[in-house]
Amino acid sequence: MPDVTFVFADGERTTITARPGEMLLAAARRNGLALSSDCEVGDCQTCRCTRLSGAVELDEFATTSLTDAEMAEGEVLTCVSSAAGDVTLRMPYERTRLLPAKAFSVRIDAVERLGPSVVRLRTRTLGLKPLVFLPGQYINVKVPGAGVMRSYSMSNAPSGERSLDLLVRLLDAGAMSDYLRDRASLGDHLECEGPRGTFYLRDGTRPVLMVAGGTGLAPMLAMLRHMAERTPGRKVCLCYGATKADDLVCLDDLKALQSRLPGLEVRTAVSQGRAAVPFLSGHVTDLLRPADVPDRDIYLCGPPAMSDAARIYLTSHGAEAAAIHVERFVPTGEATSRLVTA
Ligand code: FES
Repeated sequence: MPDVTFVFADGERTTITARPGEMLLAAARRNGLALSSDCEVGDCQTCRCTRLSGAVELDEFATTSLTDAEMAEGEVLTCVSSAAGDVTLRMPYERTRLLPAKAFSVRIDAVERLGPSVVRLRTRTLGLKPLVFLPGQYINVKVPGAGVMRSYSMSNAPSGERSLDLLVRLLDAGAMSDYLRDRASLGDHLECEGPRGTFYLRDGTRPVLMVAGGTGLAPMLAMLRHMAERTPGRKVCLCYGATKADDLVCLDDLKALQSRLPGLEVRTAVSQGRAAVPFLSGHVTDLLRPADVPDRDIYLCGPPAMSDAARIYLTSHGAEAAAIHVERFVPTGEATSRLVTA
């Protein structure tokens, strides 16, 4: 039976034995090893890791949201892959930092329209304790009356308070969009579960590069707020893009953060229409420069096409693969998917 070795970001190594054909996530769980996961059907990429040696097989009945190129480069989804012989995997997170997800409820305190297509949902957790999460993580929210879950990253920093602020992109047809437009009322209770995800701010003092598209700004805001509180001397460059200028939101929040985090540089881009200064006309990846890359912790959050383009630029300019952390935001509309917007 194959040995599977997991190498975590803090250097911890754990080896388990998998049964033939057993999914890596299931094998880890059977051996008492908790790994990051969410959908468990190959969709959300919360279980994504990188193969360092050996080979894996994709479950023949599964679908995967990884591209052929990503799989060829060694990217693996543990929920839909089994070991084809001994294999070693690099997990992009520290084993001890992720807390188990739990069910909880929130109450809506405010629904704020930040732009034509973005809403900030201000909520407050109910029950005995606030939610403990890492800056950059997300929660799943059940849409009232629709029976579907949608995922949103917190845009506030964990503070021990009960507030959870979420940025929601409004779509013409989306379960959460329809709820917020037509039925949501202050005081409504929402069923949630979390925290989830391995996209969280790593400790340290290295400069940080962030690339955010649309509501992919949300986890960056949580990280920036956390740094402003804990490591205000850290250097950060945020490249933030949207389709239209109206869709660039929270610019006042970013300006306020710059006074608390003096090393924060913000660059903005708009991909459609003529952008007025200080916005660049173009894609967010057009804001990247070669000097941004070396010796950085890098965070990419936005549509897959943006993340892929940014990753290609960064690796071609020398970024280490292990320094790049990615969260994909996929507008869900009618489809199933994950980090969300609809
Ligand atoms: S948990 Fe594996 S893709 Fe979602």
